Amino acid sequence: MAAAQKMNQLYEGKAKRVFATADPGLCIVDYKDDATAFNGLKKGQIAGKGVINNRVTNHLMRLMERNGIPTHFVEELSERETLVKKVDIVPLEVIVRNIAAGSLSTRLGLPEGEKLRSTVLEFSYKNDELGDPMVNDYHIAAMNLATKEEVAIICDYAMRVNEILGGYLKTAGVELIDFKLEFGKTPDGTIILADEISPDTCRFWDSKTGEKLDKDRFRRDLGGVEDAYREILRRLLGE
Ligand code: TMP
Repeated sequence: MAAAQKMNQLYEGKAKRVFATADPGLCIVDYKDDATAFNGLKKGQIAGKGVINNRVTNHLMRLMERNGIPTHFVEELSERETLVKKVDIVPLEVIVRNIAAGSLSTRLGLPEGEKLRSTVLEFSYKNDELGDPMVNDYHIAAMNLATKEEVAIICDYAMRVNEILGGYLKTAGVELIDFKLEFGKTPDGTIILADEISPDTCRFWDSKTGEKLDKDRFRRDLGGVEDAYREILRRLLGE
């Protein structure tokens, strides 16, 4: 296959840009170093983040593919650019939690680090103006955000991603606290895993020390942000 070329920009998000290619079924994602938190209220840059998130995401998407989860991944094109299948993003953020942290701890008064008795799955409606409000199956049906069948597939994939990713990270000395996934629909209606799986979208804690190796270092001004991202790259890809 000839190397795909970027054409017009289709979309610019907070951490990535998406470009059309000559093939209407494919697009190119370009990862930025920009970092935001609290729905864009806090803005900054994490040097080298785009390169790391591109590499880490592609590594983990390949892991998912090998384990039977269909994804949008096609080919890594460069340090920051990846060819992916063009999808309509289902407007839901799918959050999976193993250990209490972040907004769950705040909302329910559970201490950060407390193991949950069972895995928690949450949905947020992807809408920046509304601050991505949490929704349940009833809201999803009432607003026609996804069909019942699509929600069932998404839940099944999200739980399987949790098993595969959690097991894999353990071997790298990383505890998977929680993470956010997004899914897309191909033109024939197939649901596939899309977006990214990276220190921006997951909470990764060192298994031994509990040290945070993810975007919470930026959100909470903990320092050592770049080092944490580099440490994840090193542990997962040996780079
Ligand atoms: P939360 O505890 O802030 O709700 O975050 C749960 C997980 O989702 C955490 O791993 C970070 C990730 N996340 C995103 O990827 N994007 C977001 O906009 C938010 C709020 C969280």
